[in-house]
Amino acid sequence: MLNADQTAQWQREGFVVLPGFKPAEQVAAACRRAAEIISAFQPAADTGTFSTRDRSRVADAALLASAEAVHCFFEEDAFDAQGRLAVPKERSINKIGHALHDLDPFFDGFSHGPALAALAQALGLRQPQVWQSQLIFKQPHIGGEVGWHQDGSFFLTTPQTVTTFWFALEDATLDNGCLWVQPGGQTSPLREQYVCDRTPGQAPRLRMQALDSTPWPSARTAMPLPVPAGSLVVFGGLLPHYSGPNHSPRSRLAYTLHATCASAAYSPLNWLQRSAALPVRGFD
Ligand code: FE2
Repeated sequence: MLNADQTAQWQREGFVVLPGFKPAEQVAAACRRAAEIISAFQPAADTGTFSTRDRSRVADAALLASAEAVHCFFEEDAFDAQGRLAVPKERSINKIGHALHDLDPFFDGFSHGPALAALAQALGLRQPQVWQSQLIFKQPHIGGEVGWHQDGSFFLTTPQTVTTFWFALEDATLDNGCLWVQPGGQTSPLREQYVCDRTPGQAPRLRMQALDSTPWPSARTAMPLPVPAGSLVVFGGLLPHYSGPNHSPRSRLAYTLHATCASAAYSPLNWLQRSAALPVRGFD
């Protein structure tokens, strides 16, 4: 699945880019399916009318419910003061998640199969468990920056095993917000952990907890990964990465999967937990 150069890059730099991993017709079908999901999604009429505090509680509840659902998340400024969409719905979506790979027949097919199973094996991911799928939008002109972070913060396992599969569904360029990574940064410690406090009788609380004071990399050590549609970028949970804003007139749609290894202990503090109704599966 990986040639010698790609294996060496994975070990040395903590990421690998696989151009043409998905054929053009599958990529086009994924974009069409994303548009269909948005078109069918009805935002709650009162989404924009909560106070800031209530809104964050509603947002937390929506995030937690999306562990076993397909939910559209809007850009922060998508609603006006009356709770009406201020921009067309298809231009106001920030992401769709987080169980597309199990609940949406198209993305189930896109997220499973021999090629991904063999790749996971080649990366050393034994008994993979695919926890999350996301369609991540960077809307033309308004798509914002996502700052430096490590995906291990959101999927803590002991030992660290989470691996990100980032599929470009549209060309990702320097102008429209491609990924940037710190080559070699996969040896740095996990800096923070996104924790869900679940106290019986209380609404769950989400918070970011600092773990290690190692600074984020400087811009000088960041490497951009512009890739054409159909490419797959894979990186481990400790690799610091970010993506810039989209100042261009072209959207930048990506699809991501996050998988851990079943033999590593999955933290009960991770926000994303699965019930027996929707058990976590591998790539087969
Ligand atoms: Fe990330």
